[in-house]
Amino acid sequence: MPLDHASQLRVVPTGAAVGASVPGLDLRQVNDTLFTAIYEAWLTHSVLIFPGQRLAHEDLIAFSRRFGELDHAPVQENGRRFVEGLPEIYIVSNVLGPDGQPIGSLGAGEASWHTDMSYLPQPPKASLLYAAEIPHEGGDTWFAGMHAAWQALPASMQARLRGLRVNHDGTYNSGGFLRAGVVPTDDPRDSPGTLHPLVCRHPETGREALYLGRRRNAWIEGMELGKSDALLDEIWAEATASRHVYRHRWGKGDLVLWDNRNTMHRRDPFDPAARRVMYRTQVKGSAPPMA
Ligand code: OGA
Ligand code: MN
Repeated sequence: MPLDHASQLRVVPTGAAVGASVPGLDLRQVNDTLFTAIYEAWLTHSVLIFPGQRLAHEDLIAFSRRFGELDHAPVQENGRRFVEGLPEIYIVSNVLGPDGQPIGSLGAGEASWHTDMSYLPQPPKASLLYAAEIPHEGGDTWFAGMHAAWQALPASMQARLRGLRVNHDGTYNSGGFLRAGVVPTDDPRDSPGTLHPLVCRHPETGREALYLGRRRNAWIEGMELGKSDALLDEIWAEATASRHVYRHRWGKGDLVLWDNRNTMHRRDPFDPAARRVMYRTQVKGSAPPMA
């Protein structure tokens, strides 16, 4: 029986601070009514997991496009793009192609905590990651809820943080790789990037959340470096505390959708000899992050 009505959407919360599984859907067959229900569930849970999908690149693009205009995949660490003719598809993979070059980004190492591309003035609002091939173990992706983390901070700390801005470094990606065309630097005070409010209001739900980007080369505007580092470390400890985190163990065919405005994610390393192939799209932001 096709699922064609909002009331038929089954949403199973992960039990963690973020995330819900939405089983029993074929994302190749989503109508407007069903999409409205999916969108609402996404705003509620920030991370949605759709297990058991069978998506061609075109299917992933079509579903992703319902969330808004898509970004073109950023240039890979070695400067090439990923899928000929489909600029919206970005490959996250450790697999080497026939030419000995990686077919995708991030390798097999750990990807440290981050929200996607926050070094831009207007970062993407959502990312969708589809598991085509997964290793037997390792490569889990973890999501941290930034509403929950913000709410868990003491009122005195919240008062101290309101009004501060953080420089979101654009030098390195989450795998620690230098972004294409960037001069390496490890001084957060003059690294390229964008200043964003440390506490942002979600443009659709109106809820406040910590907006941290990534720890490496982060700097609180105007603050003496040592003090900035100490304060950031304190905030990051809360932001990544296990009580705010959902750990996703991938199944082949999982599509995971996350909200970059109120979550961060990281990835466990995995055996470099194993294959992990993920296809990914990214939805453009509608506004810069705002307090
Ligand atoms: C990403 C990302 C993590 C993963 O695609 O933005 O951080 O699990 N991927 O591959
Ligand atoms: Mn990411």
